[in-house]
This record gives sequence, structure tokens and C-alpha cells, in this order.
Amino acid sequence: MRIPKNVIEQVRDASDILSIAQDYVRLKKAGRNYLGLCPFHSEKTASFNVSPAKGFFKCFGCGKGGDTITFVMEIERLEFLDAIRWLADRAGIEIPKTKEEGKAYDKRESVYAALRFASEYYVRKLKEPNSGARAREYLHGRSLTEKTITRFSLGYAPDSWDSLIKAAADVHIKPETLEKAGLIIKRDDGSYYDRFRGRIMFPIRSHVGKIIGFGGRILVDHPKAPKYLNSSETDVYHKSNILYGLYQSKRMARQEESILLVEGYTDVLALDQAGVGSAACCGTALTLQQVTLLGRYVKEIRLLYDADRAGMEATERAIDVVLAGGVAASVVSLPEGEDPDSFVREKGADAFKLHLKTATKDWIDAFFAASLSDDGFGTLHKKRQAISGVAKRIAYTKDDILRKMYVQKASQLFAIPEGDMAHEITRYARSNQPQQQPTQTPPESSTSAEPVNFDAISEPEKMLLQLMLEEGGPMIEYILGNMGYDEFQEGPSRKLVDALIKGYETHGDGILSAIQSKGINADEITQQLVAHVLVPRHEISEGWEAKKINVPRLNENSKRIAQDCMMRVKGKVVERDLQRVKHEMMNAPEGSEEQSRLQKEYLGQKQYLLKINNRTLFDD
Ligand code: GTP
Ligand code: MN
Repeated sequence: MRIPKNVIEQVRDASDILSIAQDYVRLKKAGRNYLGLCPFHSEKTASFNVSPAKGFFKCFGCGKGGDTITFVMEIERLEFLDAIRWLADRAGIEIPKTKEEGKAYDKRESVYAALRFASEYYVRKLKEPNSGARAREYLHGRSLTEKTITRFSLGYAPDSWDSLIKAAADVHIKPETLEKAGLIIKRDDGSYYDRFRGRIMFPIRSHVGKIIGFGGRILVDHPKAPKYLNSSETDVYHKSNILYGLYQSKRMARQEESILLVEGYTDVLALDQAGVGSAACCGTALTLQQVTLLGRYVKEIRLLYDADRAGMEATERAIDVVLAGGVAASVVSLPEGEDPDSFVREKGADAFKLHLKTATKDWIDAFFAASLSDDGFGTLHKKRQAISGVAKRIAYTKDDILRKMYVQKASQLFAIPEGDMAHEITRYARSNQPQQQPTQTPPESSTSAEPVNFDAISEPEKMLLQLMLEEGGPMIEYILGNMGYDEFQEGPSRKLVDALIKGYETHGDGILSAIQSKGINADEITQQLVAHVLVPRHEISEGWEAKKINVPRLNENSKRIAQDCMMRVKGKVVERDLQRVKHEMMNAPEGSEEQSRLQKEYLGQKQYLLKINNRTLFDD
């Protein structure tokens, strides 16, 4: 289907690169541009640039760049026309369709349309003088203002079995589509009935604002009906990667680099009305996907769950997930029996904000407090368990300084030596790594075989070794053609490279089996390293993903992986050199010849680093 040129232009004009990119990357203002960590490749220092003035983005790390449309195509993996549609949708621009095109319009779109229709219908019903009166009273009784009701498009589903079905039929929306949208349910006899009846309706939006499902709260309590009912999983609604309220709160969250996570829809509403941004899971426990989504906007997630037993347990579990997702976690406690909504309603917005300031604790304090009962830990065994719990969570912290601070803190809290705490953490840090299954048993002759720890070899370097072992000839040529021997770690890694070079000359592509059958005279440690790097590929990829290292999955182009890895290994070596030169530079006498030599060397290395990062080093 063709989209008229002028409409494409209109969409382009209406699309602001900054606000779109900010849905995916945390950006900081840097002069006239904005800078952040590239969403297309993994990096530790920001090289992703957005220029709102030019409407362009560019990553100096991986080289990707382009306009808003390119950005959407890349990040959402869409074709050009679908990216236009995506942007048009976001900007509320109607793309004209002929009748026939309308019919062919993609199924997903019709589901979205049904959801939009349903939302408008529920909003209308809430406003209707008679049928919506009771629901309106209820919402006002909960101190929700008209502004909030509109901002969140709250509605009312009449207490009837088929009112939505009938209203939809009037505008030619078929029951099949409503069913796909999760709005109606099929009976055994083939007829349908409305899923949501007699409920206050909370439309659930994706982070870019599309309605993808609903939560419904019962208006008149009924012992047999659940208080809250959510959409079932559909093609467009996956509850495990959606957060209620994120669409409305993301701007605030981005500014503050932090967001409150609450339990219920009504908490989100009450907090928003009080000027505090929050989000809630829709009736599920927090997932890693949700944490990753939030991590695009914030550095810290503040858990604000109900002050009851269930809330406390949920908090403990959530701390785990947040930390595993690489986001900082803190906990806000509430007075016994309160939830955020009730607190704001009773005490007001200002009191709540003040409370936030005083009752936010680092997760470690909250965790410690929660594991204490009135008489301390009770038994030593319980204390031991609490220590494990804290260690396991600290182990997720990648930042060295922060981790050390946690170790210090934990050793104080539990009154145990720092060394013991650190040791316990190391245990968990290891078990957080992907499982390693040697694909071969160590040779019998290995009497000396104390397992060697290969942690000193970086993951990208291991990946390079793995690629050479698995893919043989061409890969060995490619990698060793681009890497210097001394760019591999001294010790086992270089020994394996040695064995690969020698082995390739005599055994060609059969190198892996040659090494495994000891057809190559490789020593014990080298053999172990082979076993160590030959873990199943997908496991490595998953571990890498958790570490935010970009590994293309499935259909993966191994050359690209090799390039990625070489880039990282080389970058590390150069960065180390740079540090050394910088240090020497500072110690060299001002104005001396040595200083200017070092300066040249420094600049040379910097340029080399740039080349590495731009991949201009590698031929394709
Ligand atoms: P109000 O009673 O309206 O103030 O709601 P609340 O937000 O205080 O509800 P509560 O603390 O009981 O529940 C928090 C969240 O858990 C809700 O927003 C729902 O997502 C979910 N929830 C609560 N009750 C049910 C239920 O019966 N079924 C399902 N699926 N989810 C529920
Ligand atoms: Mn409540």
C-alpha cells in the first residue's frame, strides 16, 4: 500500500527524534546535542549522539546513524512503510486508506483499533448521566479529579453481557476481532459475551501510548467475582513486559532518573495526581523484561509496595529482579496497613513527598530490617540465611566501588568480618554466571587436574577462542589476521592461540578434534581452556545479554561477532595503554622532550581507539 509523499513528509515533520530516542535511551544534554549509551551496541561510555536541531542520531561507537525514521526502523525492526505507520500512529496522523486497503489492513492494526474503540466506548459510558452515575460517584469518592480521569482515560463497562459486542457491531467491528483483542469471550455454543461487566476500566498503554489491554475494577463487590480483572494475553498484550502508568510518568521518571514502583492501578492514579510519577505491574510479579524497560528511563527503581505481608514478600522478590536487571533498588516503607493511594488521600501530596524523602532506604537496609524479628534474628541459622540473601543480591552489583561499599555496610550490619562477606559474595557472583558445561571430559591422564580459573580472560576474548575452535580455518585466518599475538592475554590464552596456529598448519579444519584427542601437543591447562570456552553457544549468548554485550542471536553472522569481540579486546588493550601513557605524561617534566613524545603517543593511541570503535580496522 502506498503512502502519499506529503503524508510521509508530514509524519517526518511531526516526529521529534529526541522524544522518540528518549523512549529507548537515557540521554544527557551535552552542548546542543544529547548523549547516551548506544541502544544498538553494548558500551560503557556514551557515544550515542542525538541532534534535535538536525533531526539526526549518530553512534560513534558502532557507526549507526540516520534520521528519526531510520531510528525507528532499526530499533523496532520495521520496514520503511511500517516505520512511517508507527510514527504516524504516535503523532496521531491519519494515513488515508482506500476501501480495499482498509480491508487488507493488517490484523494487528484491527486489534488495536478494536481496543481504541472499546476505550472510547467505556469513556462514553462513564460520562453517560444515568448508566455512568454510580461509577463516577465511586471515582470521585476516591478523590480522583476529572483531570486524572481524563489523563488516564478511565471508563466504565456497563453491567451487561453484550453491550460492548452490540456497540462494536454498529461500527462494523466483528466479534472475532473483539475476541482477538481480549475483550469478549466465546461460549461453547459459539456465541460471545463481554469480558468486562460492571467494572471501572483502566486502559493499559504501552510505553509509547498505544492501548493494548485493560484492567477492570469491580464496581459493586461480589463474593464470586475477582476485585480486579485484567485482559487476557493477546497478540498485542503481554503482561510480563508492560507497566501501567509508564506512558504517563516516563517524562518525570527520565528527569529524576528514578521511578516508584507500586502495586495497584489506583496507586498510580493517586500518585500522579499528587505530582509523583509511578508505574505498576498489571497483576503479576515484577519481571526482568519490565526492569529492562524501566532501565531505559531511570537509574533507580524505588519499590513502594503495600505495607502488609504480601507487599513485603513482593518487595523482597522485586529487589532481586531489579538488581539482576542492573538497576539500583531502594525501598520506601509505609505505615502499617497503608498503600500509596490511601496515604496520599489521607495525608495529602506534600506529606507524601516528605515521606518519600525520609522513608526511602537502600535495599540492603530494607532487606536487613525485614529479616529481623522483634528479638533479633532468633537463631544463628536464620542470621546465616539472611547473610546469604544479602550476599546473593550484592553479587549482582557490577560497579566495583559500589560493591565494596555494600560489603562494608553488610559486614557492619551483620557484625561479621568484611573478608567473610566478600568471600560469600564471590561464591554467588560465580553462580550468577552462565552455567558452564564442558563438552568433553578431561583426559584421564590429568592427575594434576586442579580446575583452573579462567576468569581473568575476558568474555570477548573467550568468544574469539571459541569461534576459532568451532569454525576452524577461515575463522582462524580472519581473527589472527586482525589480532596481534600480544593482544591475547598472557598465559593459557596465548598458549591456546599458539596451539591453534601450529595445529591449523598441520590439521587444517580438523583442529578441534585434533586438540581434543590430544593430536596436538597442548598442555593440561590449554586443554582445560578448550573445554571451558566450548560451552553451548546459546548459553554464552544469554549470559552476554545479561551483561549487555551485544551478540547477534540466531542466524548470527559469526564474522560480525568476531569483529565485535576483537573491537572489545583491542579497545581494552589500548585503553590500558592510554592510562599508562597518561600517567607517564603527568610525571614527565613540564615542557620536556619526553612530554611531547608522550603527548604524541597519547594522541596516536586515541586515534587508534577511534578507529577500533568505528570498525574501520577490519576489512569485511
Ligand atoms: P483498591 O481496592 O481499588 O484500592 O485497589 P488496590 O490497588 O488497593 O488493590 P490491591 O492492593 O488489592 O491490589 C493491587 C493490585 O493487585 C491491583 O491493582 C491488581 O493489579 C491486583 N489485584 C488485586 N486484586 C486482584 C484480583 O482479584 N485479581 C487480579 N487478577 N488482580 C488483582
Ligand atoms: Mn488501595
